Amino acid sequence: MNELKNDRFLRACLRQEVDRTPVWMMRQAGRYLPEYRTTRQRAGGFLKLCKTPELACEVTLQPVDILGVDAAILFSDILVVPEAMGMELTFGAGEGPKFPQPVSSRADVDALPVPDPEAELGYVMQAVETIQRGLAGRVPLIGFSGSPWTLATYMVEGGGSKNYAKIKGMAYNEPAVMHALLEKLADAVAAYLNAQIAHGVQAVQIFDTWGGILSTRDYKEFSLQYMQRIIEQLNRESRGRRVPVILYTKGGMGWLEAIADSGCDVVGLDWTIDIDMARQRIGHKVALQGNMDPAMLYARPERIRQEVKDILARFGHGSGHVFNLGHGITPDVPVEHAKAFITAVQQESCRYHG
Ligand code: CP3
Repeated sequence: MNELKNDRFLRACLRQEVDRTPVWMMRQAGRYLPEYRTTRQRAGGFLKLCKTPELACEVTLQPVDILGVDAAILFSDILVVPEAMGMELTFGAGEGPKFPQPVSSRADVDALPVPDPEAELGYVMQAVETIQRGLAGRVPLIGFSGSPWTLATYMVEGGGSKNYAKIKGMAYNEPAVMHALLEKLADAVAAYLNAQIAHGVQAVQIFDTWGGILSTRDYKEFSLQYMQRIIEQLNRESRGRRVPVILYTKGGMGWLEAIADSGCDVVGLDWTIDIDMARQRIGHKVALQGNMDPAMLYARPERIRQEVKDILARFGHGSGHVFNLGHGITPDVPVEHAKAFITAVQQESCRYHG
C-alpha cells in the first residue's frame, strides 16, 4: 500500500498533533453529487453499485476529488451483512431498504449463519483493495459496519420503522431470542471489520443509528454491550499503525461517558450536544467526531461558515477533533454548500493548532 500523504484524520483520531482539523462527511458519497447519480445509473441500481468494486471505488473517490475531504469512506451499506447471512434485501427506487422475510422467532435466529466475510462479502474486500489503489495514499480509507442493534432493527422490522413495535416486542417479550440475535451479529460484524482491516481500511466506524431509541438501561444491555464485544475482538493495529475505532450512536448524547469507556478511540457526536460540553465530559479520554447539524447545509455558505467557526471555537485549541456532520448529508443539499462547508473547516481551523 502507498505511503499516506495526508494522515491528519488518523492523527486526530488518536489525539496527535495536526496542522488543521481534518474533515469528512457521513454519507459523503451519495445522491447530492450528480457524479454519484451517473455512476449509480451505470451500475443499474444501488446494490449493484455496492457489488461492483470498480464502480464502488469510483463513487468512494468522488468526494475526495470534488470536495477535498481528509478521509474516504468505503462505499457499501450496513445491510450487506444481513444479506450475507441469507436474508433477501431490496432497495426499491425512492424507498428505503426492505427485508421481505424479517426475523421473528428463535428458529429464524438459529437458522442465520455467521458469514465468512472473505466468501460472502468478497466484493467488499475487492472494493477495499481497488479503492486503496485508486487513492494511492492521498487520504486514509475508513471501513464501517452497522451496530448489532441497528442491524437487528432492520432485520426484525423488515425495513425502516416508526414505532419499533417488532424489535422492542422482541427485546421485551423474548430477551433470550434478542440476545441470541445480537450475539450472532456481534460475531459477524467483528469478523467483517477485521476482514476490512486485513484488506486495507485504516480506521473503522460503527454506525449505531438506532441506539438512541432505547432507554438508558436498554441501550447498555442491547446496544453498547455488543459494540464493546466487537471492539474487544478487533485488530487494532495494521501495517504498523493503530486502526482507530469510531463509535457513533445517534441520539446517544446522554450516554457519552459510557460510550467513551467502550474501548473506542473516537466518539461520534450527533448535532444535539454542544461540542464544548462533550469535550468537557469525555475529551480527555477519546477524540470527538462531529457535529454540525446536517440541515445547516441548506443555509447560505456564509451561515455555514459562521457555524463552522462556532463549533471550532467551542472545541478550542488542540487535537482530538475530526470535523463532520452530526448525521449523514441529505440528497437535496447543493454541492456548492457541501464544498463551502469543507473549505470553511480547512481555512478556519489552522488557528487552533500549532
Ligand atoms: O458514507 C458514505 O458515503 C458511505 C456509504 C454508506 C451508505 N450507507 C450508502 C448508501 C454508509 C456508511 C451507509 C450506512 C447506512 N446505511 C446506515 C448508517 C448511517 C446512517 O445514515 O444512519 C444506515 C441506517 C443504512 C441503511 C440505509 N441505506 C437506508 C436507511 C437507506 C435508505 C435511505 C436513503 O438515504 O436513501 C440506505 C440507502 C443508501 N445507502 C444510499 C446510499 C448512498 C442511497 C441509495 C441510493 O443511491 O438511492
